Amino acid sequence: MKLKLPRAKKRLEIICDEVCELASDDDVVTDVGTDHGYLPIMLSEKIKSKLIATDISKSSLEKAIVLSNKHNTEVDCRVGDGLKIAPETTIASICGIGGTEIAKILSDINYHGKAVLQPVPTDKDLRQFLLDNNYHIKKDYVILNENKFYFIFVIDGKDCKNRYSQKDKFFGKTNLKNMSEDFILYLKSEVNRLKFLENFDITKMSEKSKEELKEKIKYYNVAKNILKKGK
Ligand SMILES: C[S@@+](CC[C@H](N)C(=O)[O-])C[C@H]1O[C@@H](n2cnc3c(N)ncnc32)[C@H](O)[C@@H]1O
Repeated sequence: MKLKLPRAKKRLEIICDEVCELASDDDVVTDVGTDHGYLPIMLSEKIKSKLIATDISKSSLEKAIVLSNKHNTEVDCRVGDGLKIAPETTIASICGIGGTEIAKILSDINYHGKAVLQPVPTDKDLRQFLLDNNYHIKKDYVILNENKFYFIFVIDGKDCKNRYSQKDKFFGKTNLKNMSEDFILYLKSEVNRLKFLENFDITKMSEKSKEELKEKIKYYNVAKNILKKGK
């Protein structure tokens, strides 16, 4: 039976491709926060690795169990928090969850394996956490799907010193390397969102807010410059 995906399926298809690229037959792939369980079913059609699906919400996991049974897929479904209930994981997909929550899930078991991560709504906190904790960021890029931007991180283990410039930290290293169409659209939307900074009066702000704003202005100017001159 063909799996019916939601309308915004490009995101799931890209995440699925990234997991497949990492996976071999003896890997254990865990989809944390699986909800409907689309990803493990998509994966079961492409790879032979053992598949686990977890969710902290029993009712969400029930949707995954129903879908997996309907598709006759062997997915080991478990209710619980993060990766604590799947310590045998060698590849984790943690998608559609807040960046600080993803960071907590990785920290909780001091996860050292591979991962595909897609934080919501923003990339900044998670990127900083991954850099601070020496996760090897193999890919770090944005995609546009149905008018929404999503950030994808591919992690290839831990204990690595990433070389990230300030620009890479602002926008993601893979984005700057590949200058994809979706990244250009993201930059345009960021410049548009922060255009108000051009005429902003910072004199009446507190010192702390001034510092934050200066960082934002720097970010805005770098984004404008990339659009003007390229990377
Ligand atoms: C917005 S859905 C994302 C579903 C799917 N991963 C995707 O990307 O389309 C987030 C899911 O993560 C689950 N979740 C949130 N925190 C979790 C945690 N610490 N451990 C396991 N599941 C979690 C929620 O219950 C919810 O079902």
